[in-house]
Amino acid sequence: MSAQTNTDRVYIFDTTLRDGEQSPGATMTLEEKLQVAEILDTMGVDIIEAGFPIASNGDFEAVATIAKRAKNAVIAGLARAIPADIDRAGEAVRFARRGRIHTFVSTSPIHLAHQMKKTEEEVLEIVTQTVTQSRNLIDDVEWSGMDATRTPVEFLARCTEAAIKAGATTINIPDTVGYSTPEDYYELIKTLIEMVPNSDKAIFSTHCHNDLGMAVANSLAGVRAGARQIECTINGLGERAGNAALEEIVMAFKTRVDALPYHTNVESTHLSRASKVVSAAANFPVQYNKAIVGKNAFAHESGIHQDGMLKNALTYEIMTPESVGIKSTSLVMGKHSGRHAFREKLKDLGYELADNQLQEAFQRFKDLADRKKHVYDDDIVALVDDEMGSAADRIKLVDMRVISKTGGEHRCEMTVSIDGEVSEVGYDGTGSVDAIFNAIKTAVNANPHLVLYAVDGVTGGTDAQANAHVRLEMNGRIASGSATEPDTLVASARAYLNAYNRLLVEKGASAQGAMAG
Ligand code: KIV
Ligand code: ZN
Repeated sequence: MSAQTNTDRVYIFDTTLRDGEQSPGATMTLEEKLQVAEILDTMGVDIIEAGFPIASNGDFEAVATIAKRAKNAVIAGLARAIPADIDRAGEAVRFARRGRIHTFVSTSPIHLAHQMKKTEEEVLEIVTQTVTQSRNLIDDVEWSGMDATRTPVEFLARCTEAAIKAGATTINIPDTVGYSTPEDYYELIKTLIEMVPNSDKAIFSTHCHNDLGMAVANSLAGVRAGARQIECTINGLGERAGNAALEEIVMAFKTRVDALPYHTNVESTHLSRASKVVSAAANFPVQYNKAIVGKNAFAHESGIHQDGMLKNALTYEIMTPESVGIKSTSLVMGKHSGRHAFREKLKDLGYELADNQLQEAFQRFKDLADRKKHVYDDDIVALVDDEMGSAADRIKLVDMRVISKTGGEHRCEMTVSIDGEVSEVGYDGTGSVDAIFNAIKTAVNANPHLVLYAVDGVTGGTDAQANAHVRLEMNGRIASGSATEPDTLVASARAYLNAYNRLLVEKGASAQGAMAG
């Protein structure tokens, strides 16, 4: 008998490409957004919030393109309670087989007094107007009361009733500031459903932020109270501490069907891959001990645990690595493998590359296999993600040499290509990495602030490839970059350049000195 029998369906609304992309430094290119949307659509996500169309032409293009390409999911575009926002969102999602306008307005006293400078009656009027405008453009309309969890329930109920009356088919109750406890959130959803006379005409939705680490628990409490849509993101990406993590929600329902009699349409074996794709696209590393998709989520270190696992996996494992798509570590054939075998391996890992991308990736695989004894699946994934993430870079590393002496000189001599023009620079630093970053700053004649620099190994061992992450900030904008290389210093240089290139893409600026001043 299927585990889904007698369990209620919960719709998964993924907002990785909207709320997730609002994480500082998580900006994605169009190509990357399309890749993320494709995997979400394939894995069975019900609604993909593809962006905020009025925010920029890039956002509009992303939502419109995803709307045209999606085969299964409803494609939503976000709009503030402003007529131009709603029109733009409607324009972007009209290409979808099934489109949705998601419009929101603040409802809490603190937002009304300080941000909106509006009375409750004025907000109620706005709710009716904006939902009506949206419904005139499309049948599927979602309304959110921003900062709902700090809004008096009586006023939230009046807004909800007005939104449903004007035609909203989904009502979203955001815990915008991540303040709720599961008990608070359960009570709020339950009370609203009971209080609002037309509540049976809409689906109630959760949208919980993770500031106190309770986003998933709050979302599940919301479902127990009657909500049937959860808004969430891959890897829990999102504003500040992020949103409820999609992978945790899907696996909680799947693993604890006894306590949580609900199911989703998401095929859980795609979760590991989705996590990697989003992490690479947003340049946002996943913490090692992150539930479900962290590197250590299925690693058993202590002797007692290992002993138990060898005797029977059930002793310490509540779900299998395979159920989230982790395959047991497998060796790639090595430097004698041909293009065909490599293409098959990529297919197995979930990649379909264009011929030119395949050629580049294959060349890099061959180079790696020459230098590294064992090439694992994770090496291939890192290599391909790296290739895709840096393909559009205007400034590329051509060559570098680092001289480092204990207690003495640290210097980097570097050749970079800027829009195809090659230039050479040299610079000193307090250490090797400092010298490398100083050389790049000299080459591009700019001085971005380094917000984050981190390196980890793709696999174990001293010959493991290094995965470097860099986050830069300049003139109020933030961009992240990453790179994978057998050498840590080369990875660091390329990650810095990748982040700087992304600052350029966001601004459409000239490559040299673009960010100076
Ligand atoms: O957190 C929030 O309130 C939001 C709304 C736009 C839904 O993201
Ligand atoms: Zn949010």
